[in-house]
Amino acid sequence: MKKKSEPQNPSRRNFLKNVGVGTIGGAILTGTSGKAASTSTAIEPDSGPIPLRLKVNGDTVNVSIHPETTLVEVIRDHLGLTATKIACNRGECGTCTVLLDGKAVYSCHLLALDAADKEVTTLEGLMDGEKLHPIQEAFLAQDGLQCGFCTPGQIMTAAALLNEYPEPSEEQISIGMSGTICRCAAYPNIAHSVKDASRRLKKPGGNNEQES
Ligand code: FES
Ligand code: FES
Repeated sequence: MKKKSEPQNPSRRNFLKNVGVGTIGGAILTGTSGKAASTSTAIEPDSGPIPLRLKVNGDTVNVSIHPETTLVEVIRDHLGLTATKIACNRGECGTCTVLLDGKAVYSCHLLALDAADKEVTTLEGLMDGEKLHPIQEAFLAQDGLQCGFCTPGQIMTAAALLNEYPEPSEEQISIGMSGTICRCAAYPNIAHSVKDASRRLKKPGGNNEQES
C-alpha cells in the first residue's frame, strides 16, 4: 500500500533532503569487481578502467569505466541513451534525473559505481518501443514544456512522484517536482501535466508501473 502524504514544507531545500542528489566522491572500488560496496573508502584517482555491470532499462550492460565516471556519462557516452540531458552538471538543476530503483536521482551527481546492482531507468526505458508513455503524452497534451530541455528530467521526476503517489495532491506535486528546475518557468503546465499523467495512468491499459 502506498504511504500517505505527511505534512511537509514544500521547499526545494526539503526536496533535496529526500531526492537522491548523489554520492560523488563517496563510492569505493572493490578490487576490479566494479562494484561500489560502501561509501567508506576513498577512490584511487589513478585507477585505470574497471569493469562495471549495470541494469539499465531492463537490460544488463557491461561497461569499462574510470572510477570517477558519473552515471550520466555512462548513460549518454557509453550507452548512447541521449534522452537524459546535462545542464548544470553539479547536482543543482535536475535536468539529468533518472530513476534508480524507482527513485529520482541526479545522474550527474552519482558515480556509476554506485548504481551497480540497481535498476536504472531513463526516459527511453519508459517508452514502449515508439509508443509514448502516458506521462509523455500528458506533457504533450498539457503543453508542459517550452524549450523542452528540462523535459526529460521533469518526466522522470514525475515518474518517481507518481510511483510513490499515484494520485498526488497539489502539495505533493509541488514538493515532488521541486528538484527539477525549468528555466522557461513552465511550472503551471508542468503541474497540470503531472495531474493529467495521474489520470492517464489510472485508465485501463494506462497503468504502466515505472521500472524500479
Ligand atoms: S545536470 Fe545534473 S543536476 Fe543539473
Ligand atoms: S521547458 Fe525550457 S527549461 Fe523547461
